[in-house]
Amino acid sequence: MKAPIRVAVTGAAGQIGYALLPRIAAGEMFGPDQPVILHLIEVPVEKPLQALGGVAMELADCAFGLLAGVVQTSDLAEGFGGVNWALLVGSKPRGPGMERNDLLKDNGKIFVGQGQAIAKHAAKDVRVAVVGNPCNTNCWIALQSAKGVPASRFTAMTRLDQNRAQAQLAAKAGVPISAVAGTLIWGNHSSTQVPDTFHATINGQPVNEVIRDKEWLEGEFFKTVQQRGAAIIAARGSSSAASAANALIDHVRDLVRPTPAGQWRSVCVESDGSYGVPKGLISSFPVRADGQGGYQIVKGLPMNAFLESKIAATVKELEMERDIVSSMLT
Ligand code: NAD
Ligand code: LMR
Repeated sequence: MKAPIRVAVTGAAGQIGYALLPRIAAGEMFGPDQPVILHLIEVPVEKPLQALGGVAMELADCAFGLLAGVVQTSDLAEGFGGVNWALLVGSKPRGPGMERNDLLKDNGKIFVGQGQAIAKHAAKDVRVAVVGNPCNTNCWIALQSAKGVPASRFTAMTRLDQNRAQAQLAAKAGVPISAVAGTLIWGNHSSTQVPDTFHATINGQPVNEVIRDKEWLEGEFFKTVQQRGAAIIAARGSSSAASAANALIDHVRDLVRPTPAGQWRSVCVESDGSYGVPKGLISSFPVRADGQGGYQIVKGLPMNAFLESKIAATVKELEMERDIVSSMLT
């Protein structure tokens, strides 16, 4: 058995936390031979802390062989102390009629303190995945605040959008999910995100040769993926939780292990200027992991006017969000 790793989860008493924690403790994120010590972080408020106690009791009652310890805390020094992974979920979800960036004012500041605490207290090899919305810009805030931690350690999540796109294409084509490969999200995890079908395949064939309906691919499909979070909020009365937790399992698991040859995953990472995305923005790209803690943005995918114009719009929104929050950092 390997030595345990420490994994911090903020917002651990929330909806995503509830769906996520048992799956991490069961080995779905880091593998069946990797013990974990979970650092459960909540706000210093009676109700969530009491709920957190209940979550910890349930984790104990699962008798997970891989769960080597549980820390419950609202102290960031303890919460991020020695952690190898920081999963930043804790923050306010949006309600009906809101855009995710309406949360910037309330949620943005959370990531200043958490970024600072990660820089000060986490393990030298710490890696960060941001889920709390708007996740790209919150990730940018955390990264700016975590002086000394390399930018490559910071990611935000568009895997849920990728999974949604894959499921929509499979349903339309009437094929199993496994027949769809290469679905890809560019840009912001927002209603301007760009679900790309040009680089995806169904049973190895280009998507537009299987789904011969350009209007659907560039219209209904596009909007469905962009608006899926809002549709779930309208239906459930609260934002996606099971699918979000599932996507975070996929996101981290696929960053920890090497990406199979010829494949990529959608991950929001710091732009190096690829595909015309200004350097420094946290934007979703096709990413390949090396299995050693590193990753690369896949270069040289052919682009077209449709993709370029959509990517320009999502980049504009990312720049606008960055400009709004810049004042939080001074
Ligand atoms: P929730 O309200 O059920 O739970 C959030 C929890 O975070 C609460 O228990 C709250 O007390 C805690 N919290 C708030 N501020 C905190 C802080 N500073 N430190 C630690 N804990 C804190 O919400 P949820 O459904 O779990 O969603 C959490 C976030 O994830 C929201 O911002 C939501 O919009 C976002 N989200 C992102 C994606 C994505 O794909 N990126 C998907 C779904 C949800
Ligand atoms: C989602 O995509 O489901 C989440 O980001 C929640 C939301 O606000 O849409």
